[in-house]
Amino acid sequence: MKICVLPGDGIGPEIMAEAVRVLKELGLAFEMEEALLGGCAVDATGDPYPEATQKLAQAADAVLLGAVGGPKWDNNPREQRPERGLLGIRKQLGLFANLRPAILYPELANASTLKPEVVAGLDILIVRELTGDIYFGQPRGIEVRNGERFGFNTMHYTESEIRRILRVAFEAARKRSRKVCSVDKMNVLECTQLWRDVAIETGREYPDVELSHMLVDNAAMQLVKNPRQFDVMVTGNLFGDILSDEASMLTGSIGMLPSASLDANNKGLYEPCHGSAPDIAGKGVANPLATILSVAMMLRYTFANDAAARRIEDAVKKVLAQGLRTGDIYEPGMKQVGTREMGDAVLAAL
Ligand code: IPM
Ligand code: MG
Repeated sequence: MKICVLPGDGIGPEIMAEAVRVLKELGLAFEMEEALLGGCAVDATGDPYPEATQKLAQAADAVLLGAVGGPKWDNNPREQRPERGLLGIRKQLGLFANLRPAILYPELANASTLKPEVVAGLDILIVRELTGDIYFGQPRGIEVRNGERFGFNTMHYTESEIRRILRVAFEAARKRSRKVCSVDKMNVLECTQLWRDVAIETGREYPDVELSHMLVDNAAMQLVKNPRQFDVMVTGNLFGDILSDEASMLTGSIGMLPSASLDANNKGLYEPCHGSAPDIAGKGVANPLATILSVAMMLRYTFANDAAARRIEDAVKKVLAQGLRTGDIYEPGMKQVGTREMGDAVLAAL
């Protein structure tokens, strides 16, 4: 197992340190090498995804990422922004399938802003297409046209891009409750009319899975109205970006949610769904659980070691049951801990 570790910016290094300790504790044989991605890479080399990192990431079986970005780099030219590094590694490694589970741990039912009875038992998997759509579409830019500034981007999908992500969703649904909801905006956007057509065609290959369709605005509403109607949701890059943030908050804290971004051969990049949280960086208070759970996803998807993944997930459940909480999921009566203490507790539970 060759793992490329990219701690990144902000709270990235702190949470990654705990995730790496957890991984080492499992006693599996792996090689691990660290490299720079994001703002730290811009500072060191002028490039958010430098050559050396590219080599390491391409040679690895899996990449573990903390988080990238921060106000320090927000005014840089676009090619020197941390986000460019993240989009670059996703595209270069062909990581088209982004899996973002939103699971509500019973212990955290009160951390959600929704009523506990609405979110109890919530278990949604958002499958987001990650290497296409308006994120990468050309032409794009800001130009002066007819004497005023004009901004433009291009949304596009090929049918093969749509089909392969739909298949990921259907396969995932087969291991769950066999329901896929495909989200589009076919009433307005041709690109997503094609999305719907291809979703229907692909659905015929999976007669055992129930396929439904929803317009993205309605999906955003249904997610807060009745989130438990969903099992697997599949959608494009832009809609998936937005809906996955929304879904994560149903669970109380985005600080709890891991993600996997996979290519066609289960090589993957694993990262927490949250960002670099510059406001709390360096304070030792960030929640490391999403990154620790990302290690579990890595073991499951890239290394096909379900038992090791479960060990980590069970250890996380155990520390939650013990009442340990970082600030983002704290409730009165619980024990507030920092990043390191939370890591210690997971190690002890392991
Ligand atoms: C995410 C993030 C990224 C995205 C940003 C940081 C480029 O929001 O992973 O959801 O938009 O994909
Ligand atoms: Mg996002």
